[in-house]
Amino acid sequence: MQVFHTASGLREVLDKARRKGLSIGFVPTMGNLHDGHLALIVQAAKSNDIVVCSIFVNALQFGLNEDWDKYPRTYESDCAKLRQSGCHYLFHPNDTEMYPNGLDTQSRVICPTMTDVLCGASRPGHFEGVTTVVSKLFNIVQPDEAIFGIKDYQQLAVIRRMAEDLCMPVKITSAPIHREPDGLAMSSRNSYISDEERPKVTVLKETLEWIAQQIVAGNLEFSKLQKDAAKRIKSAGFKTDYITISNSKTLQPAAIDDRQITILGAMYTESARLIDNISIALD
Ligand code: PAJ
Repeated sequence: MQVFHTASGLREVLDKARRKGLSIGFVPTMGNLHDGHLALIVQAAKSNDIVVCSIFVNALQFGLNEDWDKYPRTYESDCAKLRQSGCHYLFHPNDTEMYPNGLDTQSRVICPTMTDVLCGASRPGHFEGVTTVVSKLFNIVQPDEAIFGIKDYQQLAVIRRMAEDLCMPVKITSAPIHREPDGLAMSSRNSYISDEERPKVTVLKETLEWIAQQIVAGNLEFSKLQKDAAKRIKSAGFKTDYITISNSKTLQPAAIDDRQITILGAMYTESARLIDNISIALD
């Protein structure tokens, strides 16, 4: 695996690969890689000749009181994992390489409506930071395909919409949620969960599953289901940010006759904010 810290260096090798007719698969990350990230690399390698991964802890998508400075940075072990997973090129820029004109005056990409709800409601500006950095990375890498995890369902939906709206010539592919043996969705932020909380945090996934079962069984009282779900999370000792039953594509609250439904949830532990989701298709 070759590592590049500059966009120009990476572009040079990718231009050559493209001229040879090789296809490029891309997996953007913020590092601290776990098996969920590595599954994206393996998936990219299955359908592309060249796999590019990026590691960049993007300040633009973190709020002022969020964890940008304490976000786990594990560059050496990430490199070892990427080598084993079949990544060809790693792009690891610093802040100046990505934002040479500074953050405040950086041109931005805005996807309205879809980014105002769910995680966007409690993390204002977050998705603007994501869409801006992902657009920049797409322009640097110019991949044929980019792979994103369903774990961050709203992020995936927003990026799909951005690529469609802005006619970006890249295929956006999703990858399933990778989980710990007890069902907790893998996340770099799981390291913030205390030992005492750890056995109980599966309540988020269990609650989303409970809602899904209820809906499949014909219970369409969405607002009551959402309220009952928050009670379950509270009794396990956590604070709900949101539990919503949404239209899978628009992310707006599901209508009674929607057939593609995604149940999304976010909750706070003492020091972590955890998210999860489950999708169901009704016939
Ligand atoms: P990060 O949180 O590092 O995630 C990178 C990619 O890995 C995303 O597509 C995310 O959905 C996926 N991923 C994380 N945990 C996963 C899991 N348990 N199962 C499956 N996929 C998982 O998401 C970001 O970084 C950033 O917002 C980024 C897109 C890189 C822009 O800065």
